[in-house]
Amino acid sequence: FSATTPYTTLPSVLLVGPSSAGKTALMTLFERGPLYHNQQQQQGNNKSTVNSPVAQTHTSQVSSAVELAVSSPGPNQLSSYRDDLDAQGATAKRFLLVDTPGHPKLRSQALSRLAATTPTITLPSTSPSSSSSSSEINKSKLKAVIFLVDAAALADSDSGALAATAEYLYDVLLTLQKRFHRRTGSRAPASVPVLVAANKLDLFTALPAALVKSNLEAELARIRKARSKGLLDSGVAGDDEGAGGVDEMENWLGGVGNEKFSFKEMMEFDVEVEVIGGNVIGDGPGADKWWKWIGERI
Ligand code: GTP
Ligand code: MG
Repeated sequence: FSATTPYTTLPSVLLVGPSSAGKTALMTLFERGPLYHNQQQQQGNNKSTVNSPVAQTHTSQVSSAVELAVSSPGPNQLSSYRDDLDAQGATAKRFLLVDTPGHPKLRSQALSRLAATTPTITLPSTSPSSSSSSSEINKSKLKAVIFLVDAAALADSDSGALAATAEYLYDVLLTLQKRFHRRTGSRAPASVPVLVAANKLDLFTALPAALVKSNLEAELARIRKARSKGLLDSGVAGDDEGAGGVDEMENWLGGVGNEKFSFKEMMEFDVEVEVIGGNVIGDGPGADKWWKWIGERI
């Protein structure tokens, strides 16, 4: 290896979820953490600072990535995203957080990345300081997925947000599930854990994380049933019952034979799913637990 290709070895975390869940806002929060100081800035500090912890965002149309770092100072400790690890000279674990657009027409970008046995994210050479050629392709190994959910939108049962969110989550989880069978030789595909981050808990209308979890599980069960029925009714399977069964099972999320769906079922396919609440803006539990989750998986 050479010093000119520092990006090639960095692992990455993929940020997905429906439009306006807060993905880009969360990315700016993590990015600005060390730059943001609530208190008066000391004189002589030549580090650039920002006066808001979260940037204004607008609907994303392309993916983008930022380089971040976590460290574990002690056995039961993890650094905060607010820490400036560069200044501390800490032995930090660096990674890339990759933001994706949530619009349904742009989701295939994110989903296609999850399908590979060893999911990698190909990044354009974005680093302005990089002396390497711009045609250089940086491949980053995908370590984890954060599926961001707007818990306030989910609380509004007329909005259709629950169905729309669960549809996307179904596709993400099914894509990861399908990888499980795609082993090369005896090697199982590297497992990719999923954090369902229930965002916007600063809003009093938002559903608490436990309800986000149960509502999504119920909706995923409904989608799975509907999709398997659709396959049976459409006659795609034809007369060949056996082939039809295979097709049907291929798009069946989670364990077979259950009426209810539980995220735990995904462990059968080596996909760990955890639901944790938080918020990017306002008062609430914040984003620390999400940061910790990332730190433990990088
Ligand atoms: P797409 O790029 O369209 O996929 O959306 P996105 O997921 O990137 O959403 P974005 O980060 O642009 O946030 C959408 C809106 O939600 C913005 O107005 C944010 O300020 C707001 N928002 C994000 N997080 C929170 C939060 O924790 N609480 C509240 N109240 N608002 C939030
Ligand atoms: Mg965005």
